[in-house]
Amino acid sequence: MTALLDAGERLGRDELEALQLERLRATLRHAYDNVGFYRGAFDKAGLLPEDCRSLADLSRFPFTVKADLRDNYPFGMFAVPEDRVRRLHASSGTTGRPTVAGYTERDLDTWADVVARSIRAAGGRPGHKAHVAYGYGLFTGGLGAHYGAERLGCTVIPASGGMTARQVRLIQDFRPEIIMITPSYMLTLLDEFERQGIDPRSTSLKVGIFGAEPWTERMRGEIEERFAIDAVDIYGLSEVMGPGVAQECVETKDGLHIWEDHFYPEVVDPLTGDVLPDGEEGELVLTSLTKEAMPVIRYRTRDLTRLLPGTARVFRRMEKVTGRSDDMVILRGVNLFPTQVEEIVLRTPGVAPHFQLRLTRQGRMDALTVRAEARAGASTAEREAAALAIVAAVKDEVGVSVGAEIVDPETLERSVGKIKRIVDLREAD
Ligand code: DLL
Repeated sequence: MTALLDAGERLGRDELEALQLERLRATLRHAYDNVGFYRGAFDKAGLLPEDCRSLADLSRFPFTVKADLRDNYPFGMFAVPEDRVRRLHASSGTTGRPTVAGYTERDLDTWADVVARSIRAAGGRPGHKAHVAYGYGLFTGGLGAHYGAERLGCTVIPASGGMTARQVRLIQDFRPEIIMITPSYMLTLLDEFERQGIDPRSTSLKVGIFGAEPWTERMRGEIEERFAIDAVDIYGLSEVMGPGVAQECVETKDGLHIWEDHFYPEVVDPLTGDVLPDGEEGELVLTSLTKEAMPVIRYRTRDLTRLLPGTARVFRRMEKVTGRSDDMVILRGVNLFPTQVEEIVLRTPGVAPHFQLRLTRQGRMDALTVRAEARAGASTAEREAAALAIVAAVKDEVGVSVGAEIVDPETLERSVGKIKRIVDLREAD
C-alpha cells in the first residue's frame, strides 16, 4: 500500500503542517510582492506577509472573491511576467467577464502531479486507459484530466464532451478502464448505451471519476449499479487550479481528501466570514501553497461543505459538496439545494434520474416545480404516484411546498458537461 503513495502522501501530520506554513508564508510574500491587488488588500488590513506566523494566522488576511478576479481581467492577478505563463484557462463567464487562470511551467507540472495522484487514489493505475469526456478547451476539465492521466502512465483517450453515440463506440472499441466525466453526462451515456442495445454493465470500465458539479450518494448508487463500476468524486475550480484540488479515495468513498500540501482549506460562515471549526458546515475557502503564476489567497469558493479528519490519507477531507451558495433557491424563507431534490427523485419509483427545477412567480410568490422524467414504460398511475411522492418528500425533508410534473421519457434536455438544474422563468412572467 505505502509503495503506492507519493512523498507528499507519506508525510506525517506534523511534517505536513510545517511544510504548509513554509509554503504559505512564501505564497503570501510572492503575492504581496508581485500582485498589486494583494499588496493593496494586505496594506489596507495593516498586514505584512511575515505577520502569518502560524497556519491559524491566515484567518487575519483578507478574502479574495470572484469579483476581484473579474476586476483584474485579464492578467491583473498574475504574479509572474507574461512570458513565463505557459497556459491560460477561463471559466465560462455566463454573466459578465470570464475569470482567467494562468499557469507557469511548474504550475502545469504540479497540476499534472495532483491529478495523477487523484486518479491513483480513485483506483487508476499506470497502463490503464483513461477515457476523458470532460470538455477540452478553456474549461479546465479536459486538459487537466488529460495531463494528469498521462503523468500517471495511462493511455489517454481525449474524447472531450459531446457526440454521445461516438463516446459509446470509443468505449466499446478502445476498452478503457477509467472514465473521467461529469456525473450528469454519464447519465446521458447510460441512455445511449441502452439505445444502442449494449448492456452498460458489460463494458471494460472499472472506475469513474466524476466532478465539476454536485452529485449525491444516491447518484453514486445509481451510476455504480447501472455501470458496475466504482464511482468516486473529484473536486476543483479553475480559479484555484482546475480538477485535482481534492479527490475521494476508492477504498473508503467517504468524502474527498484535499491535497493539502498544495491547497490550504478553511471553512467559514458564509455570512460573517468567521472561520468555523472542522466538522461544521460552511463555505470552503482555499489558499494555494505552491502556485507561481496566479497565487490565490483565501479564495471564497461559494461551495458548501465541511472539513473532516483524514482517513485513507493524512490530508483532511471535505464532505461531498452540498451545492454552491449561488445555486441555493430560497423559497418562502426555506433554503433548497438541487442536491436535496436529486436524492428524492433518484429514489422515487417510476422516475428516471433526469430532472429540472423550474422557478416561476405566482402573484408575489416564487413557486418551484420539480420536472422529472418518467422511466420508459411507467403507467399513468405510476407517474401520478411519483409526482405525489416527490411533493410529499420535499415537503417532509426540505420543509417547503413545491409542485411536481412527470414528463414523458427523453423530453428533458440532456447534459453534455455541467448540467444546469435550475430554469429560472421568473423574469418572463
Ligand atoms: O469544474 C473543475 C473540474 C473539472 C472539477 C472536472 C472536477 C472535474 P470550474 O468550471 O471553475 O472548474 O467550476 C468550479 O464547479 O466551485 C464547484 O461549484 C463545482 N464543482 C467542481 N467539482 C465539484 C464536485 C471545474 N466534485 C466549480 N462536486 C466549483 C461539487 C463541484 N461541485
